Amino acid sequence: MNKENILVIGGTGKTGSRVMEQLKNKGIEPRIGSRNASPSFDWDNKDTWVNALNGIERMYVTYYPDLAVPGAKEAIQSLTYLAKELGVKKIVLLSGKGETEAEACEKIVMDSGMDYNIVRASWFNQNWSESFFLDPIKSGEVALPMSDVLIPFVDANDIAEVAAKVLLDDTHNGEIIEVTGPDLITFKDVVNFISRTSKRDLNFHDITLEQYIDGMKKMETPNDVVWLIEYLFSHVLTNPKNQLVVNDVERVLGRKAKSFLEYAQETAKTGVWN
Ligand SMILES: NC(=O)c1ccc[n+]([C@@H]2O[C@H](COP(=O)([O-])OP(=O)(O)OC[C@H]3O[C@@H](n4cnc5c(N)ncnc54)[C@H](OP(=O)(O)O)[C@@H]3O)[C@@H](O)[C@H]2O)c1
Repeated sequence: MNKENILVIGGTGKTGSRVMEQLKNKGIEPRIGSRNASPSFDWDNKDTWVNALNGIERMYVTYYPDLAVPGAKEAIQSLTYLAKELGVKKIVLLSGKGETEAEACEKIVMDSGMDYNIVRASWFNQNWSESFFLDPIKSGEVALPMSDVLIPFVDANDIAEVAAKVLLDDTHNGEIIEVTGPDLITFKDVVNFISRTSKRDLNFHDITLEQYIDGMKKMETPNDVVWLIEYLFSHVLTNPKNQLVVNDVERVLGRKAKSFLEYAQETAKTGVWN
């Protein structure tokens, strides 16, 4: 395999940056697909796609912001078509567990005739340290709906290790790999773990989804972001398919998935929550 024929779309994001690291550790020099990369790749500008895909044989695809948003399916359809035309041999698509719209995108890749893997993930641990749940943690006041829903939070490092492995190794071709953490935990548990490991007092407030949405609107959160968050809470989080631990991380990597507590212990040491 040529060292430079792998593209990581979203290669500076939560899983993409870690896939880049995994591949670089193996002496591979992947190309990043993102707006700030060179050549640039922009989901919203198809004119950028040919240069980004030129000469590529395998690619890891993370769609931004989410495969559930309007337009995602069309973008995945166009990208898959173009990739095949340009000679791409394999696509590893990051998908979300329990998202009907994401499953429609998965099907496009699965029906493409190219080799593929679907890496279907539950909610990431790193949402608490690199994304939308970080600010509430920093403020010390975490107000969320659905405090009793059980979530098998998965670590972005585990997702990336799985994705990098199947990108390079064809033994799992054609499989949907469901990546979850090893435990089902609630938002309240999460806040307790972070409070203990970061040695901070954190207050958890159990609110309704309506109150949560109203709060976002008062903070003038863009409408499309409000739509996505509402969708994720009302359709994805509550989907019974999501409230299950799957042992695919161990099946593919031959070791246990990282627990939320392990993630919290490591992350607390970085000081990001203080
Ligand atoms: N977060 C979760 O808990 C979770 C769970 C399951 C599945 N997922 C799936 O994971 C995928 C990624 O979500 P994420 O929240 O983890 O995001 P992320 O990968 O952290 O997203 C950031 C990356 O996307 C790139 N990007 C942003 N806008 C772009 C655009 N218009 N064109 C090209 N690249 C763009 C950014 O680079 P530039 O800024 O340089 O463009 C960066 O590399 C989504 O499809 C989501 O459905 C997420």
